[in-house]
Amino acid sequence: MEPVVQCTDLWKIYHSGRVEVPALRGVNLDVAEGEFVAIMGPSGCGKSTLLYVLGGLTPPSSGRVLVDGNDLGQMGDSERTLLRRRKIGFVFQRFNLLPTLSAYGNIAIAQHIQGDGFDPHRFEVTVNLLGLKERLHHRPSELSGGEQQRVALARAVVSDPKIVLADEPTGNLDSQNSETVLTMLKDLNQELGQTLIMITHNPEAAAYAGRIVHMRDGRILEPAAAPHLGSP
Ligand SMILES: Nc1ncnc2c1ncn2[C@@H]1O[C@H](COP(=O)(O)OP(=O)(O)O)[C@@H](O)[C@H]1O
Ligand SMILES: [Mg+2]
Repeated sequence: MEPVVQCTDLWKIYHSGRVEVPALRGVNLDVAEGEFVAIMGPSGCGKSTLLYVLGGLTPPSSGRVLVDGNDLGQMGDSERTLLRRRKIGFVFQRFNLLPTLSAYGNIAIAQHIQGDGFDPHRFEVTVNLLGLKERLHHRPSELSGGEQQRVALARAVVSDPKIVLADEPTGNLDSQNSETVLTMLKDLNQELGQTLIMITHNPEAAAYAGRIVHMRDGRILEPAAAPHLGSP
């Protein structure tokens, strides 16, 4: 089966004044439909840049990104925006909820923006899976950090995107809320078959994923070769 995300020899060089900062230096990564991948690496190694390039938020300096078979570099801005709305859900460290809307409003608006209107069944399944049924009429300021991140997760998955990209989703949470959010991410992956790519620098968080990819200095480290199984 075709990978749902495929990137080939991705480079990203930021120009800050006269200094060139190479944030990605030849990244290759394939993610299969239904995978839960954690991208791990120290601060500054290019994790967020990679996620934003995969999600079509930042153009790469060179290289190719395919999302569900669509080449992001070959699309116009409005086409890419549509693809992002229909196929990609984002989750951020700082939740990024709209403060004047209730949890219900924050989640429902994602379905409206996505363009297919409101699907009450999908809404209910998502809200139940994330344990938000009793919190729907509260605004973000009336919710705990863990609850706010669960609302953000619901918003990301409610319109059934091909992939969810999460940048340090537990970075602002205490250990108990982190555990809850990570367990829910795993449930979304296993029960809804949601493809997930999660950035973290925390090995305990990465352990929830089905595969861990290590990054260092703008590159993905190849997994250590499997031990050679010689004939007896
Ligand atoms: N908009 C930007 N302009 C210039 N340099 C940037 C920008 N964003 C990130 N960088 C630099 O690119 C490198 C990778 O950053 P980032 O992708 O945020 O890493 P990580 O998420 O792993 O901490 C860092 O050296 C960072 O300072
Ligand atoms: Mg980052």
